[in-house]
Amino acid sequence: MSQNLHIVILAAGEGTRMKSHVPKVLHRIGGRPMITHLLDTAAQLEPAAVHVVVGSGADQVKAACADRQVNWVLQAERKGTGHAVMQVIPDIPDDAVVMVLLGDHPLIPLAVLQEMKSHSDAPLAILTMELEKPRGYGRVERDRTGRVSSIVEDKDATPAQWKIREVNTGIIMAQAVELRHWLDRLGCNNQNQEYYLTDIFAMAHSDSKEIRSVLAPDSRDLQGANDRLQLAELERRYRHHSAKRLMKDGVQLIDPSRVDIRGDVEAESDVVIDINVVLEGSNRLGESVVLGPGVVIKDCDLAAGTRVHAYSVLEGVRTTGACDIGPFARVRPGTRLSEGTKVGNFVEVKNSSLGQGSKASHLSYVGDSEVGERVNIGAGTITCNYDGVNKHKTEIGDDVFIGSGTELVAPVKVGAGATIGAGTTVSKNAPAGELTVSRSRQVSVKGWKRPVKKATRDEPGGEG
Ligand code: UD1
Ligand code: CA
Repeated sequence: MSQNLHIVILAAGEGTRMKSHVPKVLHRIGGRPMITHLLDTAAQLEPAAVHVVVGSGADQVKAACADRQVNWVLQAERKGTGHAVMQVIPDIPDDAVVMVLLGDHPLIPLAVLQEMKSHSDAPLAILTMELEKPRGYGRVERDRTGRVSSIVEDKDATPAQWKIREVNTGIIMAQAVELRHWLDRLGCNNQNQEYYLTDIFAMAHSDSKEIRSVLAPDSRDLQGANDRLQLAELERRYRHHSAKRLMKDGVQLIDPSRVDIRGDVEAESDVVIDINVVLEGSNRLGESVVLGPGVVIKDCDLAAGTRVHAYSVLEGVRTTGACDIGPFARVRPGTRLSEGTKVGNFVEVKNSSLGQGSKASHLSYVGDSEVGERVNIGAGTITCNYDGVNKHKTEIGDDVFIGSGTELVAPVKVGAGATIGAGTTVSKNAPAGELTVSRSRQVSVKGWKRPVKKATRDEPGGEG
């Protein structure tokens, strides 16, 4: 643990420019709130404490980070970044080094923070970056000797200062004792009438305190998300990083720019992921798993050799051997599929297990069912698991053949080796090894004529 490193994350802003009811730091990158990314990176520095300043939507922000070790500090009124740090400084000991991060910069790489941390002996340090379009950022002014002399906010800058391309990333580090003194002297005489944290630079410079600056070699992951456009840009960066990680693990991505990873993926070698696949939550993909185009999977554990064909949606599915799913299958939570099973086109499976080699190839609903091995579930078979109030179970033994268009009214059991005739409504248990069929006999009516539409005055008769 770094005994005296205290990390302060500023997250009290409303995020007016997002035009949203959601607090800014809860907008999502890679499927989870921005602030959680930052908290993860911050934790890796092993600081003595992490303080988060919250204001707008404080309860929501706290709830979203309930599992984190954080000292929450309330900034009741939003009076600027300097004012935000003033709220937390009483909680920080004099011998501490304070690293300030902004809650709307979620993708800051650990290496960058480590580099900053290596300057913790300086009274004040700043991470800067150079931007083609520096608009919106605080500009870094330097004196004749090249030392940082002040930060000028965009709104307060003169046209000459607007041209400065070196900007404040928002990552600032200071000795707690010094910071306390500078904060005491902060004013709010500027365009926004806010206490700017960035004003401490001019103070430090006139106090002749050393200001160290680190220029980031790559600005792309250091950008903030003030509006939806910048948020989408960061999402694109996140996508880029996660795709790269997967490829390093030996996954073949047909097009790395067209896969969305929102969560953790553990993948073994030779997995193939086609275009427009979305992976959410925690997924584990065994060797040579194939995910076809447009597949969406969430919290799945797919065994080696499993093939998920185009446009299938899987959630909470576990396969224990190579099997075939889709195209156009919907497999819902609690489903376990054994080796050699097939869940085909327009088949929905929920909370069910299919034994080795069992197949439901077309247009079926299998819910709350335990299906044995080598079972064939004919097209259009429906398990009627819901009586309007409760869910009931269907049990199907090994080697059963279920004819097309069968309704299985649960609770019901079909014994091993049974055959169910097409179109049967199974409402009682079907015995093992026998044919069960419930179907009214087919009749043909001799001389029957199709009805003919009666002619009216406005509408001549004829075929309708
Ligand atoms: C700030 C910096 C600017 C820097 C830029 C980098 C200041 C005055 N300006 O500008 O130099 O280039 O970030 O993105 O520091 N916040 C609070 N309480 C407040 C105000 C803000 O907690 O009273 C939080 C916000 O939630 C946000 C962060 O501080 O996470 C930055 O605030 P924001 O208003 O986005 O500052 P910028 O105008 O982007
Ligand atoms: Ca910002």
